[in-house]
Amino acid sequence: MNGGRILATIVKASSARVSTSVASAGGSERLWQAFAVVSVAGLSWWYFAAQRQPSATRHHGLVTGLGWIGITLALLAASLSVRKRLAYQGMGRLSAWLSAHIYLGVVAAFAIIYHSGFRTGGPLTGGLLAFFSLTVATGLLGWWLARRVPPLLTAMEETPAILEDLLAVRADCLRGMLELAEGGSDEFRSLVERRLMKDAASWGRMLRFYRRRSTLAQELPDFQKEHQAALLLMREDERSAFLRVVEYALRVNKMNAELFLQRLLRGWITPHLVCTAAMFGLAAVHIFSVLYY
Ligand code: HEM
Ligand code: HEM
Repeated sequence: MNGGRILATIVKASSARVSTSVASAGGSERLWQAFAVVSVAGLSWWYFAAQRQPSATRHHGLVTGLGWIGITLALLAASLSVRKRLAYQGMGRLSAWLSAHIYLGVVAAFAIIYHSGFRTGGPLTGGLLAFFSLTVATGLLGWWLARRVPPLLTAMEETPAILEDLLAVRADCLRGMLELAEGGSDEFRSLVERRLMKDAASWGRMLRFYRRRSTLAQELPDFQKEHQAALLLMREDERSAFLRVVEYALRVNKMNAELFLQRLLRGWITPHLVCTAAMFGLAAVHIFSVLYY
């Protein structure tokens, strides 16, 4: 076989493998979606049918049954944590586990809402419901962030950078700004301290990077125009230093914008885990109290 044919065979084989795995990842997500739709429909039917024919025993069976279903699904969802710590093969792909996690969590939410009958009850059940809702809400937030933030970062970045690189570049730019300000006239220094430092920390400007999905090079001309009047009032020998400080300020703001996104992407899991732990702790007390008192 010649080189070209060998290459073609490898490309064909690997693209077949990639498309099979993508197809089966999509397939498993669709299966979990179908499971969620059928389960939520079944739970809703059970809950509303029981409301139409009220009876004490039926109500108790419904509340207890939905409680057990909800907590079992929540425990199954939390088993993702175990899978993540088991690196070896043979337990299924992590992406399939994540789909299972998300849809089990969503069905658990419906089971628990119907279980509570849209009431918070006493302080213990109210706290439990609050932590359960926060677990689901932070999970949904993390899911949304994982889909939205990476493409936004890719659109904004000149070169992909990790958190530590961003911090280092930001520190360098801030140092540069302060050094140039120290060596300049009083007007120069006060302009840097009162205006450009604020621009560097501005949330509005960070939002502009997000809204326009723009890079530093795309934002710089507009930013320079905003400071044109100040530049013209500046002493001639300070103008080039001023232009450098303007660029530093925008770069610091851009680093802040990227840092915030990267921290969100890393940080949302902490409240998700804390709420999960608090929820299971309170659920144990709740179950004990309804079973034994
Ligand atoms: C995350 C899990 C759970 C949450 C968030 C939760 C939440 C609640 C809430 C808010 C109430 C008060 C509803 C009202 O005042 O009408 C309640 C009542 C109740 N729950 Fe749960 N629950 C959970 C798990 C369970 C489990 C696993 C059981 C199974 C034994 C259970 C059994 C009950 C019972 C029997 C009541 C009625 C108590 C009464 O009326 O005095 N719950 N639950
Ligand atoms: C009953 C509700 C839920 C419980 C008990 C729960 C619990 C957990 C736990 C324990 C982890 C940590 C895995 C680890 O890093 O060790 C986790 C991760 C995660 N959860 Fe949930 N969760 C619930 C609902 C949800 C929902 C409804 C969503 C989204 C719609 C969600 C999205 C996620 C995501 C995206 C991760 C990160 C997975 C990764 O790092 O790859 N969770 N959850």
